[in-house]
Amino acid sequence: MELNRRTVIASAAAAGIAASALGGTAEAAPGAASHGRRPVKEHFGTLADGTKVYRWSLENGGTALKVLSYGGIVQSLEIPDRHGRRANVSLGFDSLDDYVASSPYFGALIGRYGNRIAKGRFTLDGKTYQLSVNDGDNSLHGGAKGFDKRVWDVEPFVSGSDVGLRLHHTSVDGDMGYPGTLRATVTYTLTRGGDWIIDYEATTDKATVVNLTSHVYWNLAGEGSGSIEDHELQIAAARYTPTDAGLIPTGELAKVAGTPFDFRRAKPVGRDIRAGHPQQVLAKGYDHNWVLDKGITAEPEHIATLRDPASGRTLRIATDQPGLQFYSGNFLDGTLTGTSGRTYRQGDALCLETQHFPDSPNQPAFPSTVLRPGETYRTRTVHRFSA
Ligand code: GLA
Repeated sequence: MELNRRTVIASAAAAGIAASALGGTAEAAPGAASHGRRPVKEHFGTLADGTKVYRWSLENGGTALKVLSYGGIVQSLEIPDRHGRRANVSLGFDSLDDYVASSPYFGALIGRYGNRIAKGRFTLDGKTYQLSVNDGDNSLHGGAKGFDKRVWDVEPFVSGSDVGLRLHHTSVDGDMGYPGTLRATVTYTLTRGGDWIIDYEATTDKATVVNLTSHVYWNLAGEGSGSIEDHELQIAAARYTPTDAGLIPTGELAKVAGTPFDFRRAKPVGRDIRAGHPQQVLAKGYDHNWVLDKGITAEPEHIATLRDPASGRTLRIATDQPGLQFYSGNFLDGTLTGTSGRTYRQGDALCLETQHFPDSPNQPAFPSTVLRPGETYRTRTVHRFSA
C-alpha cells in the first residue's frame, strides 16, 4: 500500500505549499516579531526514573511555541488577536508532574496509532496482534504508554527563514503490541509567516500499521477563558464515520446533510451540539471522524477553519490525510487545572486531529494504514493563523 509519498523537507518550500493550500499571505502580521532565532532549551522537570525533560521555546512570524521533549507536547502556543494581543490558545499544564499524572493528551504527539483500534486487535498478513488496551475494550492513541508518554530526542534547526524542531523516537518491535521497530521523526516548523507545520515520517523493519497525529486542544480565545461553543467551525466533509458505544466506527460513511454533523458551511460549534442526535448522545458531543471530501492528497489541502469571532483569531488547517477527528472536549470535567490556574470544563477546548480513520486495521473498506519495510510513511499538516 502506497502511503502519501512526497519529498518532505521542512524548508522555505513548506511556506509555499502552505500558501497555495490555504490562501492568504505568508508574510508576518504587522508588528509581529519575525525572525528565525535559534530555539532555546531549558530544563522543565525530571521523570521518576531520573530522565530530564526539556522545554524548547521558538518563535517566528508572531507565533510562539513551547514544546516538551516529553510526548513532543505543545505546552503553549501563542498567537495574536486582531489588535496584536497574544494569547496561549492551547490547553496544557505548567508542570511536568501534571502531564505525567493526568493529561488527556494535552498538546501531545499521538502514536503509533491515533484514535481507536477495536478490542486492541488486528490481523496483518495472517498474523493477529494484541495491542495494549486502555479505553474500555479498545486501544486508544497507541495504548497505555503511547508516543505522548515517551521522551523524544529533540534537535533544533534554523533553515532559511524557518525555525523548528526535529523530534525522534524509536519504538521497539512489540512495543504496546505493535509489530516492527518503528523509527519516527516529527518535525515542527514555524515559518516566517507564523504557520506551524507538522511533518510526520516513519519507517519500519516489519509490516505494521501507523497513524500519527497531534492532540492540541484549541481555544482561540485563550486557554482557560471558557467555552469554545461560540467558535465557528467549517469542515470540508460531506460524510463522517458513525460509531458504536465504544466510539469504534461501524464502517458506514454517513452523510452529514440534515444532521448536526454538517459543518460544510461555518457554524458555531454550539449551535447543534444539544440536538440530541443518537451519535452525539453516544459521544457526549462531537467525537467523530469526518471523511474529508478531498481524500488522500499528494500535498496538503485546506480542510477546516476555526474562528473565534470575538478575538478574530482564525486557524486554517491543510493536510494530505483523509480524515479529521473533531473532538469537542467532552471529557473535560472541571477536575484539571490548566497553565493559567483555571480549571477546564466540558467544551472549554476542541481538538482537530488530522489522521487516517479510526480502526482502519479492522476495516478493509477504509484507506489502508499498513506500512511495510522499505516504505516511508510521510504526512504533513499545516496550521495557518490569522486575525
Ligand atoms: C481523542 C478521542 C476522544 C478522547 C480524547 C482524549 O480525541 O477521540 O474520544 O479519548 O482523544 O480524551
